[in-house]
Parts: sequence; C-alpha cells; structure tokens
Amino acid sequence: MALDPRQIKADFPIFAAQVRNGRELVYLDNGATTQKPRVVIDAERDFYSSEYGTVHRGIYHLSAMATGLYEAARETVADFVNARLTKEIIFTRGATDSINLVARTFGDRFIGKGDEIILSEFEHHSNMVPWLMLQERTGARLVYVRSTPDWRLDMTDLRSKLSSRTKLVAITGMSNVLGTINDIDMICQLAHEHSARVLVDGAQLVPHFGFDVRATDCDFLAFSSHKMLGPTGVGVLYLKEEIGAAVPPYLGGGDMIEYVRYDGFTTNELPYKFEAGTPNIAGVIAFAKAIEYLQGLGIENIIAHEREVTEYALDRLLSLEGIEIYGPKTPDKRGALFSFNYKDIHSHDVASILDFANIAVRAGHHCAQPLMQRLGVNSTARASFYVYNQKEEIDILRESLKQCERFLKHAVG
Ligand SMILES: Cc1ncc(COP(=O)(O)O)c(C=O)c1O
Repeated sequence: MALDPRQIKADFPIFAAQVRNGRELVYLDNGATTQKPRVVIDAERDFYSSEYGTVHRGIYHLSAMATGLYEAARETVADFVNARLTKEIIFTRGATDSINLVARTFGDRFIGKGDEIILSEFEHHSNMVPWLMLQERTGARLVYVRSTPDWRLDMTDLRSKLSSRTKLVAITGMSNVLGTINDIDMICQLAHEHSARVLVDGAQLVPHFGFDVRATDCDFLAFSSHKMLGPTGVGVLYLKEEIGAAVPPYLGGGDMIEYVRYDGFTTNELPYKFEAGTPNIAGVIAFAKAIEYLQGLGIENIIAHEREVTEYALDRLLSLEGIEIYGPKTPDKRGALFSFNYKDIHSHDVASILDFANIAVRAGHHCAQPLMQRLGVNSTARASFYVYNQKEEIDILRESLKQCERFLKHAVG
C-alpha cells in the first residue's frame, strides 16, 4: 500500500504550527531528529497526567501500572527487531549511550592490547570516539575499512583486514553523511568466521528499514527513539543474552543490583543489570507508541516510499547544475539522505537561505570529521527524508537552491 505523506503530515501537529509567511514547513533534517506524531505526544502527556509512577519499586497501583507499561514497551521493541528474548533489550539514553555501554562493558572485558576493532571510514563520531577511548585505555588498535570510489564499503578490504586479532566489527547500518547502506548480513557472516563480534550502529538504518537481529545474527544493535518519531532521551541496545551475562555492568546504582553489602554487591539479571537508576519512563512508553505508529504504516510501505523519494531526489538533484552530492549516485543500497554542496556557497549559507523558504536542512560536519577530510570538504548541507516527506518537497528544495545565488548577490550587493 502506497503511503500518503499528506495524510501522514496531518498526524504531526508541528506542520500546522510552523507555517511561515504562508509557506508550509519542509522538514528535511530527519537524519538529525524526526518530528513527533500526536499519538506519541499524547502518550507522554497522558502518562504524566493520569498514570505516572515509578517502575520496579513501588507496590502500589500507580507503580504497578507504570511498570506494566514500561515492560510492555520493552516487548514492543523486542518484537520490532525480532529479538529472541525480551531481556535482550536494554533501554538507554540513545544510540550514543548504547555504544558507550558496549565499549565500557564488552570492550573493557574482552578487548585488550594488540586486539583490533574494525570500523568503516564513514562512522558517526558516536561509533568512533568510544572506540578511540577504549584504544587509549587498553592499547587495542582501530582498523578502518576503505570505501569504494562510489562510497560503499569495500568488502574485499574488509575480508583482508579480518583476522584472529579482530575482536569486534563496529559498523554503521546506514551512513548519516553518504546514505550508504552496508550489507550487514554479509559483514556478520564474515566477522563470525573469525569469531569477532559485530555491533551495528542502527541510528540511521533502523528508523527507515526496520531490523531483524536474528536474521542478521548481529551481536549488538544500537539505535535512538528520537530519529524514529519517538521522544528524545531514549535509546535501545540489543545485545545477545550470552554476552549480556558475561560482561560487567555499565553504571552502578539502583535497580542494577541484586544485593548490596558494605563490602560489595551482586548484579541484577538482564536487562536490569544495565539499567541503573530511574529510567525515562514516559519516554520509553511514548517510544512504543512511535513504533506502533510505524508498524501501522508498514515497514515495507515505508521502504517503498523512501525508495521512490530516493530515486526522484537523485534524478532531480543530480541534474541541478553546480551541485555535488556525496555518496552513492544510484538508489540501490542507499537511503533517502543526501549530503551536498551547491556551487561555491558555504553550506551554512545554503541552510540559512533555505530557511527563509521554511525549508529545514542540516549543515556542518555531521559528527563525521574524519569523513569530511576524506571528502575534501569542511562541511556539507544535508537533506534527509522520512515518512511525511513527499516528492513535491524535492522540487521545492531544487527551486529554492536555484534562488541561493541570486539571494546572496542581493545580500552582499
Ligand atoms: C549514524 C549515527 N550514529 C549514531 C548517532 C548518535 O545518535 P544519538 O545522538 O541519538 O545518540 C547518530 C546521530 O546522528 C547517527 O547518525
């Protein structure tokens, strides 16, 4: 069933609230964060207005109800990524927090001096810096897989770099700069042949394509609620039960313990072992509503819609004189996210001028400074699409880009 972005937009109050100078909001910064549908906003409000209580501790009615809603959300997430066990789903603060959790637990326990962690050249800082920090702590080495000339992961290079020293392949599912989608099935298969674990940074991939942890057999999957219509401050770490049981806890505090003595403690079972302190209860409950909303649209329908948008955007944007798009130029294995520079106009100016037309695009280094160096630029503009975006908005973007030069001449002249 084809998605109807117009109808979907009506579910998101922000689009009615943000009409400026008669222009509708063209929101193209979904790679950074997405807008929220009414069901998600209502879920947070309803929870705080009439159901609020803490989880796992209280015996009274409100706490039991909050616990029920919170744990039901965990089941929704487990079902969404097809986890074998609900306890393999850990709620975190976001993808960044999830990856740091893996570095501090699995990394500190199982990765040592002389061991190697394989990354791609196009990782977000969130999937680089935790490993650089681990490198500083342990003397492990980071190894980067090259990109092909059309900005895909060079699988031959990956094969040549995997060895008995490889303990982890930490790789993005989809690049937040290039839109490149990696072949996670193949990466897991190759890594596992070398007994290496695989962490998938799903922050960009999961919102648009869903994910099946059992089909891919990945060991860790990290993603964020706010990039898939849910609230900020909530993320997910999926990790295999056997790994969760074998590694030490992350943060210490309430809920993650089984028993505390003056001279020591024992840890709680999964998933609570990794959820110290009072979590973002309302955020988690509303996140489940976001997932249900996406499931209502149908992941296959979302994939088909974004494929159509990708094809159209590549066609319309690549034909614009003076534009340079970074990333694969064909729609296969690529998401609806386009980093670009236009003529010799700085990306910040491009974004500011587009803002006058009520078009929101991101500009900067996109938390991928090493990749910017590889691309030979300081920054790019980025237009990233989601379920409420329609092809007409690509035309609006194209026409507004054409105005940029004229606008700048007026501004300086
Ligand atoms: C590929 C990728 N990984 C990780 C992150 C970090 O996500 P968060 O800021 O929600 O923790 C982002 C955010 O932009 C991202 O694009």
